[in-house]
Amino acid sequence: MENGDPNRLWQDSVHALGERSNYKRIWNDQAAHPEVAKLAVAGYREEAGFEATAADTIATLRATTGISPYDIALEIGCGVGRVGKHLATQCYHWIGTDISGEMLRHASQRLQGLSNVTLLELHTVGLSEIYSGTMDLVYCTIVFMHLFEWDRYRYVQEMARVLRPGGRCYFDNIPLDSAHGWQVFSEGAAYPIHRRPAHMSMSSSREEFRSYLTHAGFEDIRIHDLPSGLIAGTGRKPY
Ligand SMILES: C[S@@+](CC[C@H](N)C(=O)[O-])C[C@H]1O[C@@H](n2cnc3c(N)ncnc32)[C@H](O)[C@@H]1O
Repeated sequence: MENGDPNRLWQDSVHALGERSNYKRIWNDQAAHPEVAKLAVAGYREEAGFEATAADTIATLRATTGISPYDIALEIGCGVGRVGKHLATQCYHWIGTDISGEMLRHASQRLQGLSNVTLLELHTVGLSEIYSGTMDLVYCTIVFMHLFEWDRYRYVQEMARVLRPGGRCYFDNIPLDSAHGWQVFSEGAAYPIHRRPAHMSMSSSREEFRSYLTHAGFEDIRIHDLPSGLIAGTGRKPY
């Protein structure tokens, strides 16, 4: 136990745990400046490196779920529109959703001139703003590491609800059973409980992804090892 009043330390730790659920505040803070938002989204401030990461994500979606020019595609946690800027040119309509209005403000700048995009601020975890059975492709990339497991699953359930029969879903995270995953886990474990940053990364297991997809009712369930070192879960909504 560190020096200090134990009751106070415990109260602080409860506060820190609760803060992780305050996604809107945490991510609006991260997005206060466009350069910082880009850094928080993909680890790059400069545009060329940032754009290269978008090409990688598009290639991953093409290889795992496929992309059709007839797709209505929705991204959960779209950030500044890193992926949407490119995907919108390859699908019928792209909808970017995010818990952070500040992120979406940067996205609207980035996506200027694209006529087939819609940006939507989510009021809480879930897609209650979206009608059931209306989407062809729903994906969520570089977001699950920042969410509690319950909220990850809530989004997978929501993917199943908003997809049309035959629609495809995709989500990814850092796998615990990799060297990088274990490093992330160990760095998290090294924090004193009351100082854990609310948005710190937490990895996933393949079994976790498979369970989410199974319980949400998907079929054609696959777990992919990506060149980036992440794992992705994909599935298809039954007809
Ligand atoms: C690391 S960024 C990734 C952005 C984007 N997916 C990309 O790959 O460029 C994480 C994004 O998830 C959003 N986010 C965090 N918690 C969320 C939640 N509970 N629901 C929806 N979006 C969330 C953040 O606002 C942020 O834009």
